[in-house]
Amino acid sequence: MSLRVTLLLLFELSLYAAVSSKKVCGRPTVSGEVEVEALQRVYEPGEEAVLSCAPGYVRAGGSRVIICTRDGDWGKVSLKCAPKSCPPLNDPTHGTAEFINIVYKSTINYTCDEGYILNGTTNSTCMHDGKWSHPPPVCEPVTCGLAPIPIYGKIVYDKKPVGDIVTFGFGGRYECLPPLALFGNEKASCTAHGNWTVPPECRIVVCPAPTAIPHGFITFAVKREHGYKERVKYGCDANYVMDGAPEIECEKTSQWSTKPVCRAPCTVNVKRGRIFYNAKKMWIEDFKPNRLLHNEYVVVYCLNKENKCGYPVATQCIDGTLKIPECYEEPSGTTYTLNSKSLPSEIKMCP
Ligand SMILES: *[C@@H]1O[C@H](CO)[C@@H](O)[C@H](O)[C@H]1NC(C)=O
Ligand SMILES: *[C@@H]1O[C@H](CO)[C@@H](O)[C@H](O)[C@H]1NC(C)=O
Ligand SMILES: *[C@@H]1O[C@H](CO)[C@@H](O)[C@H](O)[C@H]1NC(C)=O
Ligand SMILES: *[C@@H]1O[C@H](CO)[C@@H](O)[C@H](O)[C@H]1NC(C)=O
Repeated sequence: MSLRVTLLLLFELSLYAAVSSKKVCGRPTVSGEVEVEALQRVYEPGEEAVLSCAPGYVRAGGSRVIICTRDGDWGKVSLKCAPKSCPPLNDPTHGTAEFINIVYKSTINYTCDEGYILNGTTNSTCMHDGKWSHPPPVCEPVTCGLAPIPIYGKIVYDKKPVGDIVTFGFGGRYECLPPLALFGNEKASCTAHGNWTVPPECRIVVCPAPTAIPHGFITFAVKREHGYKERVKYGCDANYVMDGAPEIECEKTSQWSTKPVCRAPCTVNVKRGRIFYNAKKMWIEDFKPNRLLHNEYVVVYCLNKENKCGYPVATQCIDGTLKIPECYEEPSGTTYTLNSKSLPSEIKMCP
């Protein structure tokens, strides 16, 4: 404390002592948003102090005047001051405005969506004059040059680029010049980083000369290597049935797609009996040639011993194998020639 201030204080204290019989008011205590106009150190009883709202606040009721009472106090301060509001804000295009409030001292944060760059200030504060400190920023799209093109390849853009600058999200699809195969990402796009997705590679693919299949043959066979997507067709020998697609294709892996399989026919191993095949009931010796193709069905007849009736059981030829149902009993030669009317295929059918 300087000497000057000390002396001043002493002088004030002696003055106060002189009038100490009379109570006076000191500085009124007010909250931060309230100010006292023409502030004095001491107020006489009956003297008024005029209050106002601090910058950034507006009066929201209450009295602006307080009076120093006879007892030397100010009583209750009723002046209410509310923070000023700044104009409401909208999200910038392709961006977001984050805020809790829009009154004096509030801060608003701006962000741009992925693929957009913020041009301007990232935040703005509501000032005491009810105006925002900064204008909202602009979210500008990230740009890329034209896409890189692989050797022996090309790009087909989703839409025609205007000039040689495109914006985030702009895309296309790569193609390799036939017969080269594409390895990598077929789709291309200008990323949020302003670069393009990694372009693919176009490579030559060679598949070895296709090999033969058992019980089959290659149609129009020219034993040679083939390029990507080239096709070869197979056929099956007579009475063999093809399982799988007849054509194979040279794939990216330099391998052929799965070759078909030729499935073998079956013989119906019944010496004496009647069968049902192809909508006809016939004696086995009339089934000529005795041959069932792969996947075909034949029906034999079994005996229900309890009810003395016959019943049909179907069985399927699977690649050369035909399982005769276990219930089937082959009759003796005598029964077959002399008493064929007693066979399960000839007696009444079970209901
Ligand atoms: C604005 O960003 C600052 C700093 O990242 C953070 O402290 C504040 O909470 C944010 N305000 C809003 C309203 O999101
Ligand atoms: C930001 O916006 C201003 C005004 O529109 C412009 O002049 C400036 O080039 C922009 N900056 C960038 C980096 O785009
Ligand atoms: C507001 O933006 C300025 C620069 O524009 C930055 O220095 C400050 O940290 C930001 N404040 C908040 C709260 O994000
Ligand atoms: C694009 O740029 C980003 C950031 O610099 C990087 O992480 C990414 O690997 C780049 N992508 C390509 C395909 O170059």
